[in-house]
Amino acid sequence: MGRKFVVGGNWKMNGDKNQINEIVNNLKKGPLDPNVEVIVGVPAIYLSYVKTIIPDNVEVAAQNCWKSPKGAFTGEISPAMIKDVGVNWVILGHSERRTIFGEKDELVAEKVAHALESGLKVIACIGETLEERESGKTEEVVFRQLKALVSAIGDKWENIVLAYEPVWAIGTGKTATPQQAQDVHHALRNWLSANVSGSVSDAVRIQYGGSVTAANAKELASCKDIDGFLVGGASLKPEFVEIVNANQ
Ligand code: G3P
Repeated sequence: MGRKFVVGGNWKMNGDKNQINEIVNNLKKGPLDPNVEVIVGVPAIYLSYVKTIIPDNVEVAAQNCWKSPKGAFTGEISPAMIKDVGVNWVILGHSERRTIFGEKDELVAEKVAHALESGLKVIACIGETLEERESGKTEEVVFRQLKALVSAIGDKWENIVLAYEPVWAIGTGKTATPQQAQDVHHALRNWLSANVSGSVSDAVRIQYGGSVTAANAKELASCKDIDGFLVGGASLKPEFVEIVNANQ
């Protein structure tokens, strides 16, 4: 059974209406490979606006949400609110949330569980820092992050895409080599097989993220366990279309 290639563009805290119009026009022009699921991660304040202009073949994601439906959480948004404006996806556990905003594995896992319960689909991000990689701890770190997720969601992985984003490759221009990425993706699948189930391990899509560009996307896409990308900087540029189409 094939896993549908899935490419996310994480705009992070970038873009104003003018730039968003340009990005969306570029997506409309495409053409986008119909065999690829395309999702753009939009700053919360522009979610409703983007929903009014995005073409039908592109999904929209929020970049974060809180772990309860409503209440006294100033500055936060809930999965219920995201759904209410017609958005079906959320990115959670991005390394910038973890490092800059101090989100720990358990909080990320609670957020993922609540988002799923609320009917959102989730791109759940994991990945090691440079220091962790250099001290040989890559697998230990990503398995720990996965374990926290499994404690919160068990075997309910149908609406999750996993994004492996080595922190040292994010926004640095330093991409993991296809072999480095494939090795971690393969290890993640083995871990899921041993700790969740063979069917989850086979079915879950694992994106690679970290300095993906039109120039390196094809080679990365050809790796057996890489099922798509989560793209930052290049998702703001016209080359995003080429990245979406890299699996052709
Ligand atoms: O979520 C995408 C990401 O963190 C990668 O960013 O700019 O290295 O493609 P970038």
